[in-house]
Amino acid sequence: MSLIGSTSQPSLHKFGRDCHTSNYQCLSQSLAEYKIGPFCIKLYHSSSNQHPNFIMKSIIFLGVVALASAMPKLDTALFQGTDPRLIVGGVEATKNEFPWMIDLRVGGHICGGSIVSPDWVVTAAHCVGGSPSSYTLVAGDHNLTLNEGTEQSRGVTAIVIHPGYNRPTIINNDIALMRVDRPFEFNEFVGPAIIPQLNFAPTDLATVAGWGMLSFPIGDLPDVLMKVEVPYVADEPCRIANIGVGVVTESMVCYGVVGKDSCKADSGGPLMCGPDNALCGIVSWGKDCALDGYPGVYTETSYFAEWIRSTIAA
Ligand code: ARG
Repeated sequence: MSLIGSTSQPSLHKFGRDCHTSNYQCLSQSLAEYKIGPFCIKLYHSSSNQHPNFIMKSIIFLGVVALASAMPKLDTALFQGTDPRLIVGGVEATKNEFPWMIDLRVGGHICGGSIVSPDWVVTAAHCVGGSPSSYTLVAGDHNLTLNEGTEQSRGVTAIVIHPGYNRPTIINNDIALMRVDRPFEFNEFVGPAIIPQLNFAPTDLATVAGWGMLSFPIGDLPDVLMKVEVPYVADEPCRIANIGVGVVTESMVCYGVVGKDSCKADSGGPLMCGPDNALCGIVSWGKDCALDGYPGVYTETSYFAEWIRSTIAA
């Protein structure tokens, strides 16, 4: 769902077995765009400084041309019948529908986040391994390429990563708080999310929002905020589905169905439950995006309600 500017070279967030341990470095990946006739192809490089050599580019070019002419419906086939132009399965959010929604930037968009108080934003720990000064938090945003007059941009003075992050398993306790250099001014476009308490039961449906990829592994990043409604998946089936991918712990919650999911660069953003859109989850990880049998895995915010309260009160 969400986005990085389409003209500049975006830096994307990556979650993969090869990179969980090196936090920040692995979050920025090069992404090259190739325009081939009506097609725009985006390719990731495993290391940010590498570019495919000319021979590789030629092979890729020829392969894409051959496939494109043989299979005009290649994109649809790849995404199992879902429309690859929609967030993975979602729609554009109404402007400022989620006033707590944060665009977390390192130059361009890398992750989402949610406002929890005038001074604090909650996001995923795996989004924020760098120093506070490398991040910008923008509230009140909708179209990342336009100045819509509702944006409030802030620097970051402190980052508190949960002490249990990556313990005892990789990506566990994937939550962090960021303090802004000047309080947000709350108005109809910018305001705090409600944090559910520990006994909160996940709802059957939840909404996830972000500017992340519209499809995976080939996909555009939207300019506008996207949202999608996803169904609850119980811990045990989610744990079993993800054996070999990652460990689903008690403080994670799973939502998603084939064709509907959050995706790369949605991390840190809100999963919302119930009539008041309470922040019941934080986009954390998943196998690719919107795959059949692999729901997205979210940090279950209610488990961290007390940690959030005490950290921002300190
Ligand atoms: N780790 C990804 C990110 O950095 C988010 C992954 C969510 N994946 C999913 N299939 N729901 O943006």
